[in-house]
Amino acid sequence: MIKLYDIDHVKFGVADLDAASNSWQLEFGLTERARDTKSAQLAVNYEPYSILLEKSDEAGIRYAAYNLHPDFSLEDAERHLNGLGIEYARTEQAVHFRDPENNGVAYVPYRPRIGQDAYPITSRRTDSLPTGRYRRLGHVNYLVQDVGRMVEFYEHVVGQQLADRLGPDAGAFLRVGADHHVNAFVGTGTSHFHHVAFDLGDWGMIRSAFDHLAQYDRVFPWGPVRHGIGGNLAGYVRTPELDCFIELYCDMEQLDELHEPREFPDDRRSSNVWGMLPPRSYFRFDAESIKAEREGQQWMMR
Ligand SMILES: [Fe+2]
Repeated sequence: MIKLYDIDHVKFGVADLDAASNSWQLEFGLTERARDTKSAQLAVNYEPYSILLEKSDEAGIRYAAYNLHPDFSLEDAERHLNGLGIEYARTEQAVHFRDPENNGVAYVPYRPRIGQDAYPITSRRTDSLPTGRYRRLGHVNYLVQDVGRMVEFYEHVVGQQLADRLGPDAGAFLRVGADHHVNAFVGTGTSHFHHVAFDLGDWGMIRSAFDHLAQYDRVFPWGPVRHGIGGNLAGYVRTPELDCFIELYCDMEQLDELHEPREFPDDRRSSNVWGMLPPRSYFRFDAESIKAEREGQQWMMR
């Protein structure tokens, strides 16, 4: 059985590479590590990179990549997929395959969560990272047609563990370590990547980040909220150029090896302990929804 260590990076196609890289740097505080005419690598913190951008006419996610546990190699990953009859493509540094709803998944070799330095991130020295940077890439979230089928695939093929369920089949959260989830599915009857999420460390950082993003005219369709499942304090930023949202969060519940998956009721408290459920636009990526949010009318949509 394959074993994962962590989420490593997420790759997006973007129509305008210069604009996208500038946006990730200026608005979201990432640091460009490498750039050529076709692609860019961006880091959140001390890690090599967490976001890859590829110039493309088709904007949106390409894949989410997960580190293998250090006991497993890419060759082990190939043997694992061969044994299950899963088609894949091998490159020098990764194994790529697709989940049942055609989302890209990649295995990459182990690397420490936040780089090689032995010091905690706040004890290190830098001459290049900016102020106000986020702590790290945390998780990805997908709208899906069949939650049960995706949980089965991500547990038995990808190598994640079920953390909790929302109702019997309304949603599911999967983990690879102590963080409550590294991946989540919401059953909406559609297949669409929903958000990539960054851990900011604390509420003050989220306040600063939202104030900063508002000055770049970003809109926040939902949040801040306190999720009942996962416990994270979170807010969501619309990013039409990526055909998804970006979540900024802190306070993710930490689980240990004795954790048993729970099934939470599909109700308001599971979604947002503080109150308001998401607007319908939160589950949509069309121009009408984006326009409604920009005009502050998303709560009027049905
Ligand atoms: Fe999330």
